[in-house]
Amino acid sequence: MCGIVGFTGHRQAGPILLHGLEKLEYRGYDSAGLAVRNGSAPAEVVKSTGKLVKLEEKTDNGKALEGCCGIGHTRWATHGEPTQINAHPHVSGNCTGSASGTVESEVVGVHNGIIENYIELKEKLLRHGYSFYSSTDTEVVIKLIDYYYKKYQIGPIDAIAKTMVRVRGSYALEVMFSDYPNEIYVARKDSPMIIGIADGETYIASDVPAILNYTRSVYYIDNLEMARLLPGEAHFFNLNGDEVQKELTEVTFSAEAAEKGGYEHFMMKEIHEQPRVIADTLHSAVQNGIIDLGLDEEQLRQIRQIYIVACGSAYHVGVIGQYVTEDLTGVPVRVELASEFRYRKMKLEKDALVIIISQSGETADSLAALREAKKNGIRTFSIVNVVGSSIAREADSVFYTKAGPEIAVATTKAYSAQLIAMYLFAIRLGEVRDTIKDTKPLLEELEKLPDKVERLLEDKERLQWFASKLGNTKDVFYIGRGLDYAICLEGSLKLKEISYIHSEAYAAGELKHGTISLIEDGRLVIGCLTQPELYEKTLSNMVEVKSRGAYLMAVANYGYYSIEDTADFTVYIPRTDPHFAGSLAVIPMQLLAYYTAVGRGEDVDKPRNLAKSVTVE
Ligand code: AGP
Repeated sequence: MCGIVGFTGHRQAGPILLHGLEKLEYRGYDSAGLAVRNGSAPAEVVKSTGKLVKLEEKTDNGKALEGCCGIGHTRWATHGEPTQINAHPHVSGNCTGSASGTVESEVVGVHNGIIENYIELKEKLLRHGYSFYSSTDTEVVIKLIDYYYKKYQIGPIDAIAKTMVRVRGSYALEVMFSDYPNEIYVARKDSPMIIGIADGETYIASDVPAILNYTRSVYYIDNLEMARLLPGEAHFFNLNGDEVQKELTEVTFSAEAAEKGGYEHFMMKEIHEQPRVIADTLHSAVQNGIIDLGLDEEQLRQIRQIYIVACGSAYHVGVIGQYVTEDLTGVPVRVELASEFRYRKMKLEKDALVIIISQSGETADSLAALREAKKNGIRTFSIVNVVGSSIAREADSVFYTKAGPEIAVATTKAYSAQLIAMYLFAIRLGEVRDTIKDTKPLLEELEKLPDKVERLLEDKERLQWFASKLGNTKDVFYIGRGLDYAICLEGSLKLKEISYIHSEAYAAGELKHGTISLIEDGRLVIGCLTQPELYEKTLSNMVEVKSRGAYLMAVANYGYYSIEDTADFTVYIPRTDPHFAGSLAVIPMQLLAYYTAVGRGEDVDKPRNLAKSVTVE
């Protein structure tokens, strides 16, 4: 997704803006740009396609741009090709073909999001004499601000407010007006934005890591709010133009938490943070045996149906949550892909609870699903990792996982933290509805998970060795039954999204209905066998594929040693309550994916075509 940064203070803005964009690279982008103003002089705009390093070279690491006020952007193309002329910042005047240089424009801005009605707005502006140099929606919104600013001879906040009323879509918008030196105006709807203050200077960014080196004191701007930002000052306004007061919040995790901590990749660092993240998330919700997820007890008693709605790995957490919740509470659970849920005309049970799971809290499909649920009057509960994110603030209640900033695109620690939240939800629900008489054994077992994960991580060299044999592997199958199938969903996604090896998770009992025809000599099949009552069944499926030439890896509980008569390579996981086995079995699968991708020389932390948070449809 796009990344935005901004700065106004007493130091040169260029280097600070570039540093911020570096910290946002993980969001995925294909071009970048800066606009810097020196006092009341017009803004200097510089853009480039490709990696940020090109922009750094063009601007001598920002030093070539004079001025203490500026904005920056990394663009993930949604409207218009990833060309230099389409890169942000965009201006209300004309931009030369080089897309760089001083611009005599009233308004200069950057934007993260999508303006859905930009075509009609462009036609309106064309009728009013505007011309366009790019094919972006952002240029339209910047020119629309300029249009209202001039037509009504109003101030920046009023011009932006009129624009916000007129546009449909999502935006985290930063704008500089030539008449207002040293000031940056921002507006937000659905896309993430954070504002930091320190030592008489003001910072803006899409996400916390971009400003953590400078400040931990931040404001969260709410949806449909604007702000006027000066050096060390932030003034917030609602859509009516009324000023609203906000509290500064302290960000708890430190700058190095967003760095690699000595590992080669963020992903490996985050894999190793899982024991602490599991413990932190658990302890944030459980004190002296009491589970508090911020959910009303009476409402939990009245629930007749649960819908878990999410995308990607968060969806896989939901599938595990379905098995665990139904088994512990008897309450029916449906798990839905958010991108489907938002368009299905499904009849929602009114006494239901919709649970939205999202690491970023900004996934467009999940946010839209949340709003769909609320529109239908259904109570919503979100499990989110990013504090102050849209889903967190729009759900009726939120439980924050304690994974800290997750930088690698392929989620690991956030996934594990979400699993803990799901287990606690199921246990709490069972406790409230008396389907669980004693939660103590379950909570005690959860307390042991961090050490068991730690033990699995000590086994990583075996996975590294096995991964070294997968260099030319194609078409891997992950098979399992019940909760093991849910674990396979995540194992398969991890492998394909960072190693680019095609894989798929399959319900082991379903293989014989067609897919087994794909099994041939040397095809790698990874069996997951953590559920005692399904072990024999899955084992027999593994024998079936072995007889057809498959090469077998197994992830099985300690003690299931008979598996070695069938599997060519086995990873044992410590015994745990079967409901929690996903937290352990996923570890070797994460490590296998990681080492396979590293072995293939892939960009593990920033896989091709992917973004950390998919904030567009
Ligand atoms: C998982 O490794 C992927 N990065 C992706 O599937 C991700 O889980 C999905 O896009 C949902 O993101 P969210 O949790 O931020 O909503």
